[in-house]
Amino acid sequence: MKQGFIGTSSDGTRGVRWLGAGLAIATIALGACQDPNAGGAPTKWTKAEPGSHEEVETLPSVPPRPSSLSVAALLEKAKEQFSPLPEAVESRNNPITEEKVTLGRMLYFDPRLSKGGDIACATCHDLEAFGVDVREEGGHRLATSLGFQGQKGDRNAPTVYNAGLYLAQFWDGRSPDLEDQAKGPVLNPVEMAMPDEATVVATLKAVPGYVEAFATAFPGQPDPITYDNMAKAIGAFERQLMTPGPFDDFLAGKLTALDEQQLAGLDLFMNAGCIQCHTGPAVGGTMFQKLGTVKPWEGVTDEGRFKITKAEADKLVFKVPSLRNITKTGPYLHDGSITSLEDMVQKMATHQLAKGELTPDELSSMIAFLGSLEGRLPEEYIAKPTLPGSGAVVQEPVEDEGEPAEGEPSEDEAVEDEAQPEPEPAGEPG
Ligand code: HEC
Ligand code: HEC
Repeated sequence: MKQGFIGTSSDGTRGVRWLGAGLAIATIALGACQDPNAGGAPTKWTKAEPGSHEEVETLPSVPPRPSSLSVAALLEKAKEQFSPLPEAVESRNNPITEEKVTLGRMLYFDPRLSKGGDIACATCHDLEAFGVDVREEGGHRLATSLGFQGQKGDRNAPTVYNAGLYLAQFWDGRSPDLEDQAKGPVLNPVEMAMPDEATVVATLKAVPGYVEAFATAFPGQPDPITYDNMAKAIGAFERQLMTPGPFDDFLAGKLTALDEQQLAGLDLFMNAGCIQCHTGPAVGGTMFQKLGTVKPWEGVTDEGRFKITKAEADKLVFKVPSLRNITKTGPYLHDGSITSLEDMVQKMATHQLAKGELTPDELSSMIAFLGSLEGRLPEEYIAKPTLPGSGAVVQEPVEDEGEPAEGEPSEDEAVEDEAQPEPEPAGEPG
């Protein structure tokens, strides 16, 4: 196991619901592992097992599996590289509590944390859309997000799902963890653009519901509304943003979780060397690597980690991104410069590896495998909460008389409406 996954169970014990079934299946003959998803002609695995007859039929569209591994052997090999997603990524510095998560969820959706009152974390990291910015311009997704007054940043908004697993945050890894990261965008002049921490704290203190929620989330603290606690609450919420999917079911032992083509793609992913960089439970996020290790990458202006470390060797070095939900999180790369996943994969095969261009069959298997990394969204967990109404004046906490009212009608509605602003028409400053 790689170091750096704080509190992640290294044996993946959190996701073992399929294990029993998987072991049972694994002991059955593997010669004809039928694809449960294929309706018509069954696809079959070649299995050179003593005693078993040769089965080499494959659907015409599915390339023959490049190695002679059985599904069970492929699983064993995959388990050396990957592990199922945990339910949460714990932190010693910020233990997850329900109260913190409840507060963090509200803050995540609250545009009042921005100078214009119109941008929330959720604006650029839409949880219903796999945690990325889905706002469009000219019929396609923005390569880089629009922030305060329509200003464009210079990097693509990565997904917040499964991000707690990474060795560091941001494309260049300049932030150590989610709690530290959450302090950035609120004050970033091209993102939420709040002038300083004090203004953020004063804004939160003016909302009676937040006075209550911070006190509950950080019990025993004399002054619970602090900038750090805001970030901790958001971090606690993000630590459980996980998207387990078919690949996790497979890793947990369910041999039928991936179809024939996806299995071939997984085999290729491992054999071609993608796993040299994209590994671990997030299939990435465990290391920094140069963009263009084998062949230089044209047109990259961002110097990546060099900006942080000033070490010559860190020029064009970026965090290897997670490939979880990659079919849904384009456009790709730190600058959002690549829109097609096929194109992206071919570039990886030629610039990051000596493998060279994938054949059409290989490419479709690879894309199919990447599709198995698309997970299930935690719908209930990410449901947009009712935001606490703004108090016109700072109310003296009269007495400790119980809960604040849950749903405030008119004001909340106004807040809700602002939470997801319409995309800026067009033509913002370049
Ligand atoms: C205006 C759009 C915008 C807003 C608002 C925004 N982000 Fe981001 N976020 C980005 C961009 C762009 C990056 C990548 C920046 C970089 O790597 O330099 C990013 C990076 C991140 C990352 C790092 C993920 C990774 O792969 O390393 C996390 C986590 C994150 N944001 C969470 C948040 C939270 C929490 C908030 C609210 C407090 C927020 N963001 C507000 C655009 C935004
Ligand atoms: C030498 C390390 C390395 C190898 C090998 C490698 N990658 Fe990458 N990959 C990276 C880095 C670094 C990035 C991000 C660079 C950036 O954003 O500028 C990346 C980005 C990607 C992305 C876009 C992710 C996103 O969110 O934008 C995909 C898809 C991808 N790789 C797939 C693959 C596949 C498939 C293979 C094997 C054919 C592969 N990679 C091999 C290092 C590697």
